[in-house]
Amino acid sequence: MDIIAATAQFIEQKFADEGSGHDWAHIRRVWLMARRLATAAPEADHEVTELAALLHDIADWKFHDGDYEAGPRAAREWLRSQQAPEALIVRVETVIREVSFKGLGVATPVSSIEAALVQDADRLDAIGAIGIARAFAYGGHKGRPLHDSAVAPVAHDSFASYQKNSAPTLNHFYEKLLHLKDRLNTDAARQVAQERHAFMETYVARFLAEWDGID
Ligand code: ADP
Ligand code: NI
Repeated sequence: MDIIAATAQFIEQKFADEGSGHDWAHIRRVWLMARRLATAAPEADHEVTELAALLHDIADWKFHDGDYEAGPRAAREWLRSQQAPEALIVRVETVIREVSFKGLGVATPVSSIEAALVQDADRLDAIGAIGIARAFAYGGHKGRPLHDSAVAPVAHDSFASYQKNSAPTLNHFYEKLLHLKDRLNTDAARQVAQERHAFMETYVARFLAEWDGID
């Protein structure tokens, strides 16, 4: 079995029972979307792109006391167990380090086309119908209210304040989700984002109308 197939099988097993929005279904979609976006970027190394997509959430900082190196470290450990060459491991680790959203006011530059593709694929899965479902699943997992009009959205300008955030879930749309279409790297991803973004805007408008009993 090649290293991509072995990694897919390992991650599928590891995330089978994950209910916080970082489940195998999410990782699989990011993997498929990264491959799809890569068809418009033939210069991308498919092994780096696919391995990074599969491993990007292996140890999310949100569930490791904010330890931002937990993901790259766990990816390295797995790839070493598969006898991956050091140069490949370093490239995958770098992508994983660069993928995550860190607050509206925090720049998240990518240093490779492979990181651009995986970051875009991950962000596309945070918007649209699936993105809405994931946001409320995450909020539920954290025991947060759906919405509270007295709590204003915050444009987090540091990773630390974004990490500490515990606002109602609807705020997350203003603090992240509705901005993601403008935080994409590739034209291919921007194209996919259009319909998903429009759907989310319609959704939020309806949510607010129903919330106040107007609708
Ligand atoms: P990314 O993979 O873009 O770095 P995260 O790992 O931060 O995103 O988030 C994973 C999923 O959980 C996404 O769908 C995201 O929108 C959702 N999520 C993260 N933080 C919150 C929050 N405070 N409220 C609701 N959903 C959230
Ligand atoms: Ni992800």
